[in-house]
Amino acid sequence: TEGVNVPKSIVLIGFMGSGKTTVGRELHQRLGYPLVDMDHLIEQRAGKPITAIFAESGEDAFRDMETALLQELSAPDAPRRIISTGGGVVVRPENRELLHQLGYVVWLHAPVDTILERTGRNRERPLLHTEDPRAKIEALLELRRPWYQATAHQAVDTEGLDSSEIATGILESA
Ligand code: S3P
Repeated sequence: TEGVNVPKSIVLIGFMGSGKTTVGRELHQRLGYPLVDMDHLIEQRAGKPITAIFAESGEDAFRDMETALLQELSAPDAPRRIISTGGGVVVRPENRELLHQLGYVVWLHAPVDTILERTGRNRERPLLHTEDPRAKIEALLELRRPWYQATAHQAVDTEGLDSSEIATGILESA
């Protein structure tokens, strides 16, 4: 897509394994806007992986880091960016508000089987270090679905689409 220009930052939200990182990279390549992968930046700044942050400081401490980063990204003079978030960024009401103001928010959703398959490939998700990851995914999805819905300007059903098709769909509506 030549000469694409979107007037705002694009913010990708959605459950773990819904493709936020991959689609974020694709949009970054097409638009040339800087890419901020929130999980990645938090890990870099903390100097340790998210699993270690959860283990050593707890989930609340991680959520505090997410909120602080969102506040920082919301600076009034901020450039347009592509922002990919962690799946739990919507659990705090203040985060949902910040996200919605931050740019054009896109909720990527995928079926539970796809999420299970993708998240099963590595052990990077402390919330899924459980006996029954499927049940955990279903429970978290049920809880979070209304928050993703309320925060997003657009919802994208990613089933059967590759990251390039998803990016094109986003750019057509953004
Ligand atoms: C989380 C999702 C993860 C990461 C952390 C918590 C969640 O991000 O932020 O493990 O609460 O769903 P991804 O969605 O990139 O896996």
